[in-house]
Amino acid sequence: MRIGFFDSGIGGVSVAKTFIRNNPSFSYLYFADDAHMPYGERSPDEVFALTTHALTRMFEHSCTLVILACNSASTVLPRIQQEWLPAHFPGKKVLGIIRPTAEDIAMHAHEHEVYILATPITVASRAYDKELAKINQVAHFFEIACPKLAEVIEKSENYLSDAQVSHYCKLYTQPIPYDKPIYVYTACTHYAWAAQLLQQERPLAKLIHQSSIIADTLSAYLSRHTEISQALIQPAELSFEVQCSSEDKQYIQKLLNLFTI
Ligand code: DGL
Repeated sequence: MRIGFFDSGIGGVSVAKTFIRNNPSFSYLYFADDAHMPYGERSPDEVFALTTHALTRMFEHSCTLVILACNSASTVLPRIQQEWLPAHFPGKKVLGIIRPTAEDIAMHAHEHEVYILATPITVASRAYDKELAKINQVAHFFEIACPKLAEVIEKSENYLSDAQVSHYCKLYTQPIPYDKPIYVYTACTHYAWAAQLLQQERPLAKLIHQSSIIADTLSAYLSRHTEISQALIQPAELSFEVQCSSEDKQYIQKLLNLFTI
């Protein structure tokens, strides 16, 4: 049995690799739906259809637990968990990354000003507000929708010297104060690859990426669910399933390179 990580593209690697490094003995499948990205600029129904299609493929490839390493896909998680999984794959588990990130935000938002950079669908879904309300935290934060940023990161060969990536990083950090030690969450997994550029724009900000939050949450989940973790022990392996607009082999090589950064 494998653990699956799903994203619309390269973003999820930034989340998956921390967990995989800490747990090298499991078997993994990384699924990237590059052909249909950006998810963040699609409707909730489209994201639901694309995500459940990918999940079906991942379950067919022996994934028993899938992490939606994508905030945009995680906005449709309630519908997946409450309606789709019980009807189609009652034995499988799907986890998202918004709830654990909201828990982290809840720990900081009462002391610090918090900004969240996210895709348009994530901001429009108000998923972070809703999760914080469930945690019962009155947290004040500012969300900034960043159209195009994930897409230019996905298409770029070298994020840090890419003029378009740099342009959007400058544009979307404009509303963030320059002179205060505020917290900035990159709530789109693609943005992790542009973290250095975002940090340069706001040197005093504490930039928080979801990678270690998700790795810790997933480890805790597996220690609580020994029935899953015991079934997962397999010869260590990392394989890929991609839906690409470009050449598959080239894209898989790109994913592999990102896993080694
Ligand atoms: N990586 C996805 C996320 O975390 C967004 C990329 C996209 O728009 O497809 O939201």
